[in-house]
Amino acid sequence: MTVPFVDLQAQYRAIKAEVDEAVRRVLDSSAFILGREVEAFERAFAEYVGARECVGVSNGTAAIQLALQACGVGAGDDVLVPANTFFATAEAVSTAGATPVFVDCDPVTYNIDASKIEAAVTPRTRAVIPVHLYGQPADLGAVFEVAERHGLIVIEDAAQAHGARYKGERVGARGRAGCFSFYPGKNLGAYGEGGAVVTNDAEVARRLRMLRDHGSEQKYRHEIIGYNFRLEGIQGAVLNVKLKYLDGWNAARRAHAARYRELLAPLESAGALTLPRESAGAEHVYHLFVVQTDARDALQRYLSSAGVQTGIHYPVPVHLQPAYAPLEHREGDFPQAESQSRRVLSLPMFAELTGHQIKYVADAVADFHAESSAAAG
Ligand SMILES: Cc1ncc(COP(=O)(O)O)c(C=O)c1O
Repeated sequence: MTVPFVDLQAQYRAIKAEVDEAVRRVLDSSAFILGREVEAFERAFAEYVGARECVGVSNGTAAIQLALQACGVGAGDDVLVPANTFFATAEAVSTAGATPVFVDCDPVTYNIDASKIEAAVTPRTRAVIPVHLYGQPADLGAVFEVAERHGLIVIEDAAQAHGARYKGERVGARGRAGCFSFYPGKNLGAYGEGGAVVTNDAEVARRLRMLRDHGSEQKYRHEIIGYNFRLEGIQGAVLNVKLKYLDGWNAARRAHAARYRELLAPLESAGALTLPRESAGAEHVYHLFVVQTDARDALQRYLSSAGVQTGIHYPVPVHLQPAYAPLEHREGDFPQAESQSRRVLSLPMFAELTGHQIKYVADAVADFHAESSAAAG
């Protein structure tokens, strides 16, 4: 048997008729950039998340950059970001003209360790970006508490957490802005690039709309220097079809996670594997199902030879990336993020995963540990 890491074909097959019809509508109307389908999606997604406004943009990285700029963050400002995240979180801070300042991660949730935020705040600090990593909401209560004490803007990076809830509310809507990626493999994925920013602040939304479209509100009148970061019509149409299914897909992911947990529990009890934990009050949507083990690389090779595709999110923490060499970080600066980068392994996770596939993966993980314990004598 082979088990892919994600299976976009399986999802497309299930909703093909609706998606094809939506794409045909865009082709018939030639509304290829922004337009009615994008506006309809923006309304539906704002309502889904529980925010007043949603602004569709070209991808999740652009969403974070524009959110910062629309909130007035830029040159001379520091922005706190977790050391374990996809590179784009920090990259967007840099392309907005500000400087990322890293904060270590919580050993259990993988998210920003809110107890370490305060020590990183200086007079230059303007904002903090909690990332809801792997689909698990960050500890927003603690993050907002420090942010309010120091007057920091909170921008949520919800690129991996569409529909996840923190204390009953969807992530993304509480910060000054919430940023989403619709990269195809995400819980809500487009059929190409896509992203969005949600906000309850009408002025931030107005600036976002200008920034994504050459600094313009009115054709050929440019108020500010902006970008071409618009969402395409076809992506709006596809996303609008898929949004209806998101809660069902997230529920399926949660059920798969529960099954993995049940099957892998004996390995955790034996100390061979660390399984993901859900924090109190947080509803994880399992964009990724991430386990930890000291034998990560050997386990990945073993699973690959058994036909199971896995991923590593992420093998190099952001502060040690070559692009951030000018910040002069070294190994040891953020020990949790560094340890996670050596130990994490993401098992196959997508809504259409079957019970057979989950059992096959869990059995292969158990076989690996049985064989390595036997070899160790
Ligand atoms: C946590 C996080 N932030 C930002 C991004 C950037 O999104 P995009 O790839 O759509 O630019 C991603 C997506 O990969 C992500 O996982």
